[in-house]
Amino acid sequence: MEYSNINFNNKTILITGGAGFIGSNLAFYFQDNFPDSNIIVFDCFRSELTFSNGNLQSFGHYKNLIDFKGDVICGNINNKNDLLLLKKYNFDYIFHQAAISDTRVYDQEVVMQTNVNSFYDILNIAKDNDAVLVYASSAATYGSLSSPQTVGQESPENPYGFSKHMMDQIAYRFSNKNPNMTIVGLKFFNVYGPREYYKAKTSSMVIQLGHQILDGNTPKLFESSDQILRDFIYIDDVVQANIKACSPKINGVYNVGTGVPRSFQDIADILQNELGSNLGTEYFPNPLKGYQMHTQANIDSSKKYLDFMPKYSLEEGFKDYISEIKRLHGSDNK
Ligand SMILES: NC(=O)c1ccc[n+]([C@@H]2O[C@H](COP(=O)([O-])OP(=O)(O)OC[C@H]3O[C@@H](n4cnc5c(N)ncnc54)[C@H](O)[C@@H]3O)[C@@H](O)[C@H]2O)c1
Repeated sequence: MEYSNINFNNKTILITGGAGFIGSNLAFYFQDNFPDSNIIVFDCFRSELTFSNGNLQSFGHYKNLIDFKGDVICGNINNKNDLLLLKKYNFDYIFHQAAISDTRVYDQEVVMQTNVNSFYDILNIAKDNDAVLVYASSAATYGSLSSPQTVGQESPENPYGFSKHMMDQIAYRFSNKNPNMTIVGLKFFNVYGPREYYKAKTSSMVIQLGHQILDGNTPKLFESSDQILRDFIYIDDVVQANIKACSPKINGVYNVGTGVPRSFQDIADILQNELGSNLGTEYFPNPLKGYQMHTQANIDSSKKYLDFMPKYSLEEGFKDYISEIKRLHGSDNK
């Protein structure tokens, strides 16, 4: 599927965070559709270190890259010497996905260092290479603002959301100072799809509930889950947004969601339908403070300036994803 008329063949493409969920999908998108593109994945991969919340410090996994034929560099975006390993290339496009993607890391110092400090380096690499830069921002920049969430009205409520909000502000300023550059930030909403499995507990509820159901267990949801809504977006639509962001009508930050919020109850119900189960639902009180109750991306400007057009409803996304959910069921995600 070609989402734009850019020919990426013979182009040199850097994907930071390319061993992670979204980055590895981008890597395979280019490999499959533009076999003569030169793709470089830069990722620190996972060590066995965990944050105080018990989750791994990074989720890059070699299993996301099996069959990948491009260059792989194991490096840390916080480490200037590692970034020097990129000097030998001349990039045409940079997709910056590397980050602490876990929204529940509350160590502000480490989140800001990893997500924000490194961003200055990535912006300068893009400038030095005269490369198009597309980077990952997040719907977490909106905190619990009411729907629809609109770019320009942010109120982050955790260090992660704040770090992405700061990246957006830095990108705006850098873009104004360098008007010839193409710089686009994408605020992804709740992404689900193949290659998210290795994010373990931070993967989407789609695969987590899918596996609960395949275990024969009644899916467990927070009380009132029919009233907790999210803008869930399928990975293929996120790839589409990244490609379209390479030729924006104007630089900026854009929402990447469907514009159609769906409830967690819908997720459990559609999954049971797809998996042929009838286990009902079990509810428990929501222990999380500052929990977003409703997200819905305002995608007017994404449509207008990126020509972004999400294609997958939740039902269509699940149909595409379900065989992978089944394949991974019971497999090791370590
Ligand atoms: N998946 C979502 O729903 C979602 C929503 C909003 C924003 N995002 C953002 O999109 C981007 C990709 O997210 P994802 O879901 O693929 O997460 P992910 O955790 O699977 O991918 C991030 C990758 O970055 C790598 N990484 C982390 N720290 C690094 C470092 N210091 N140096 C080098 N590499 C490092 C990890 O190993 C991992 O492979 C992230 O920036 C994330 O914040 C994701």
